[in-house]
Amino acid sequence: MEPYLKMVNVSKTFPGVRALRDVSLEVARGEVLALIGENGAGKSTLMKVLTGVYRPDNSPDTKIIIDGFEISIESPTHARSRGISIIYQELATVSNLTVAENIFLAREPLTKLGLIDHKTINRCSRELLDSLNMDINLKSLVGELSLGQQMMVEIAKAISYDAKILVMDEPTASLSYKETVTLMNLIRDMKAKGIGIIYISHRLEEIFEIADRVTILRDGVSVGTLPVAEATKEILVRKMVDRDLLDIFVKNESFTQSEVILKAENIRNIKRKNELGGVQLQNISFELRRGEILGFSGLVGSGRTETMELLFGMHPYKGDIYLSGKKLHMKSPRDAIDAGIGFATEDRKQLGLVLDMTVRENISLPSLESISNMQLVNKTKEREICKRHVDTLSIKTPSTEQATINLSGGNQQKVVLAKWLQLAPRVLIVDEPTRGIDIGAKAEVHSLLTELASKGVAIILVSSELSEILAMSDRIIVLREGAIAGEFTQQEATQDKIIACAFGSGEIIGKAV
Ligand SMILES: Nc1ncnc2c1ncn2[C@@H]1O[C@H](COP(=O)(O)OP(=O)(O)OP(=O)(O)O)[C@@H](O)[C@H]1O
Ligand SMILES: [Mg+2]
Repeated sequence: MEPYLKMVNVSKTFPGVRALRDVSLEVARGEVLALIGENGAGKSTLMKVLTGVYRPDNSPDTKIIIDGFEISIESPTHARSRGISIIYQELATVSNLTVAENIFLAREPLTKLGLIDHKTINRCSRELLDSLNMDINLKSLVGELSLGQQMMVEIAKAISYDAKILVMDEPTASLSYKETVTLMNLIRDMKAKGIGIIYISHRLEEIFEIADRVTILRDGVSVGTLPVAEATKEILVRKMVDRDLLDIFVKNESFTQSEVILKAENIRNIKRKNELGGVQLQNISFELRRGEILGFSGLVGSGRTETMELLFGMHPYKGDIYLSGKKLHMKSPRDAIDAGIGFATEDRKQLGLVLDMTVRENISLPSLESISNMQLVNKTKEREICKRHVDTLSIKTPSTEQATINLSGGNQQKVVLAKWLQLAPRVLIVDEPTRGIDIGAKAEVHSLLTELASKGVAIILVSSELSEILAMSDRIIVLREGAIAGEFTQQEATQDKIIACAFGSGEIIGKAV
């Protein structure tokens, strides 16, 4: 059967970067094609060409063929009208509209009087959500939904545009287990409806679970396509990285008791009036020692990020936080940083980086004081330092002067880490440090954290990935509904115990991929 979509010899050049060179791929109806590769390999760029965000380089060999017709995709709207939709990791829903309004955004049916026909919108949305087995209240504001539910709304919307090809760029990066299982089922339903799916993920387990074929990109070039049935993890990794990988890191030396650096006593957030969503924390208390890696686990919405935000002075709080025995009175992140607390946040778009600034500025600005002498920045030193971080973390960028916004998602994440490494805090909180980071870089980040700990930095690791928490933590705290639900030493902790603790009832849902 002729594939529904064919991209032939697509190239894309940015100033100083050849992001894609003669890449081809095909997707049939009802097929899931996985697209994998290291950070910066060109996956998102290829999908942006397909969905009309970027124009490919001009070349007579380049072709995009949909349903037998060669077309030139002019814009995202044009792509959508030809049945091609994309779901970005940074979701595009509008949070203060309802679910139904989001689905029909910008093409609302009107009543005879020219008013928005809410009745029709609601009826059509209900039918759509039902057909996809989505249990979501149509009238909720999208901002009140979990990220997973928001993604479901985006999928429903894409399908309502009669998508024939649906692109998902790292869809599970911020989903909970349960939501991931739901998404996998939804993908199977879409396959059965004849929709072709291009699925990008750094989690190889997902590829084996859901994909039919896999195309591998390396440095902007396609290095092969094979049926998933013929692939193994080793084959895929070898094709993606083309070098020997560090073994997936397992922390082995056991941590020896040392002095307490950070102590939280009955901390909880103070909710402001009219505040939407968010978790109410209930008297969180714990201690963190010098050189210790303390893992925080729990479901999405269990209060992990909220707790970290309090420790970083981002919100008013009740209860006490002590650093080396001294009570802190933090009113802002500046106070936290001055006290020696760093927070590499999970949301690099909002807090971690100034995307318009260069890689160098992002890494060195927060710590300029330490490399300046009487207001004069030592430029040579600054460049040297940045260059060193770029090398150790293998940040893929043409130079340290590149605007951060032009880096691939995973490489932006590495810049966030570099910035905090440069600040050298005594307590470093890392929230989802390897989200969106490829398999090689992940091992590098893990050994870096261990190295920091061995130098005496006290580390809090928040992660949704259980294997990461289990491998890295000396001790693990599990949160549930804003409270500490359990604590495990490295020896005690197992995947099953933590999942059971996180769910509370002992209910374990599906296979957590
Ligand atoms: N607008 C742009 N300007 C300049 N360079 C860019 C731009 N967009 C992407 N690049 C570069 O193109 C290359 C491919 O980036 P792309 O975002 O496609 O990678 P990716 O495979 O999606 O990586 P990740 O897994 O980290 O998301 C990278 O080197 C990136 O820095
Ligand atoms: Mg990407």
